[in-house]
Amino acid sequence: MASPPPLLPTPSHRGSFRSRSYGPLLAQPSLIYLLAITALIVALLFVRGRLAGKVAVITGGASGIGKATAAEFVRNGARVIIADVQDDLGWAVAEELGGRDDDHSAVRYVRCDVTDEAQVAAAVDLAVALHGRLDVMFNNAGITGALSPTPLGSMDMADFDRVMAVNLRGVVAGVKHAARVMVPRRRGSIICTASTTALLGGLAPPAYTASKAAVAGLVRATAGEMARSGVRVNAISPHAVPTPLAITGMAQWFPGTDVEERRRIVEEMNEMVGPALEAEDIARAAMYLASDEAKYVNGHNLVVDGGFTVNKQLNVPAPGRHNLVVDGGFTVNKQLNVPAPGR
Ligand SMILES: NC(=O)c1ccc[n+]([C@@H]2O[C@H](COP(=O)([O-])OP(=O)(O)OC[C@H]3O[C@@H](n4cnc5c(N)ncnc54)[C@H](O)[C@@H]3O)[C@@H](O)[C@H]2O)c1
Repeated sequence: MASPPPLLPTPSHRGSFRSRSYGPLLAQPSLIYLLAITALIVALLFVRGRLAGKVAVITGGASGIGKATAAEFVRNGARVIIADVQDDLGWAVAEELGGRDDDHSAVRYVRCDVTDEAQVAAAVDLAVALHGRLDVMFNNAGITGALSPTPLGSMDMADFDRVMAVNLRGVVAGVKHAARVMVPRRRGSIICTASTTALLGGLAPPAYTASKAAVAGLVRATAGEMARSGVRVNAISPHAVPTPLAITGMAQWFPGTDVEERRRIVEEMNEMVGPALEAEDIARAAMYLASDEAKYVNGHNLVVDGGFTVNKQLNVPAPGRHNLVVDGGFTVNKQLNVPAPGR
C-alpha cells in the first residue's frame, strides 16, 4: 500500500517557488511580480505624499498653525513658500524644514505683510516664478487685536482697523491674487483661516469676531465664481489652539500667569475630553482641503472644534420647572470654558 503524502514539506520538497507545495497562488511568478509592483507604487505614493508636486504659499507660516501646516505640506511632498512678517523666525522655520536661500529650494521664506496688497501679489508671483505655478494658497496670517474687555461705547477704532487689515483685508488680497494665477490654469485650492468666533459671539472681542465672520462670508461669496473657474475656496475654523497668538493673548485676560499656565487655560477651553486641540490638527485639515482628496469640496467651512459650536447647555433650573421662552441672544453666544479672568 502506498504511504500517504506528508502534511508538512519535507527537506526533499524544498526548492524554487514553482516546485514547493505552497499552493497554486504563490506558484505564479506573474502574480508575485504584480504584488511587488503594486507594493512599490503604494510605497512610492506614500513617500511622495498626498501633496506631491504641489506648490503652496502659506501666510503667517512662521508660527503656530501656519508653521505646523508648512511642515505637514512639506512632509507630503509640497513645495512651500512661507510668507510672514517675522523674518528671523520665518527663515529659521524654512531652514528647519529643509529650505535654503536659493531658487531651487523646496521651502522658502519671503517677507510679506498681508496688509500690503503688493506684498501679497509678490509672494504669489514668487511661487509662479520659482515653480511655474501656485496650487494652494493658505490665507492664514492673523492677529487678535486688543483682548481686554472694553465696553462697546469705548471701542478703539484704530484697533478695529488693524484687526480688519490683517484678518480680513489680508485674506481678501490673498484670495484675489491666488485667483489671478489659478483661474487661468483652471485649478487650485484657496484656504482661509476663520475661527469658531466666525460662528458664535462671546468668544473674542467684536473686531476679531467680525473679521473672522467676514472671512467665512468671503469664502461663501467667492466659492461660486471660483467653482466655475475650476478653483476651490474653503475656510477652516479652529477653536482654541495653544499657539503664540492664543498664549500671548491670554496674558491680557490672566496677567501674572506664566506661559505654561496660559497654555493649560487655552487647552481647557476645548470641548473634548482626552487629546488637546493642536496646531497639527488644523494642519491636517488644511492638507485635506489642499489635496485632490477634497476635489469637490468647495465653499465649505471646516470647523475643527471638537463639537464646541454645536453644543450649549441650557440655562434652566432643575428639570420640572419651566421659565424659558425667548432666548435673548442665547443661541448666538457661548462663553469660553475659562476661569474668571484675573485668577
Ligand atoms: N490659536 C487659536 O486659538 C486660533 C483659533 C482660531 C483661529 N486662529 C487663527 O489662526 C491663524 C493663525 O494663528 P496662530 O494661532 O497660528 O497664531 P500665531 O501668532 O502663532 O501665527 C500667526 C502668524 O501670522 C503672522 N502675521 C501677523 N500679522 C501678519 C501680517 N500683517 N502679515 C503677514 N503675517 C502676519 C505672525 O507673524 C505669525 O507668524 C490666525 O488667522 C488666527 O486668527 C487661531
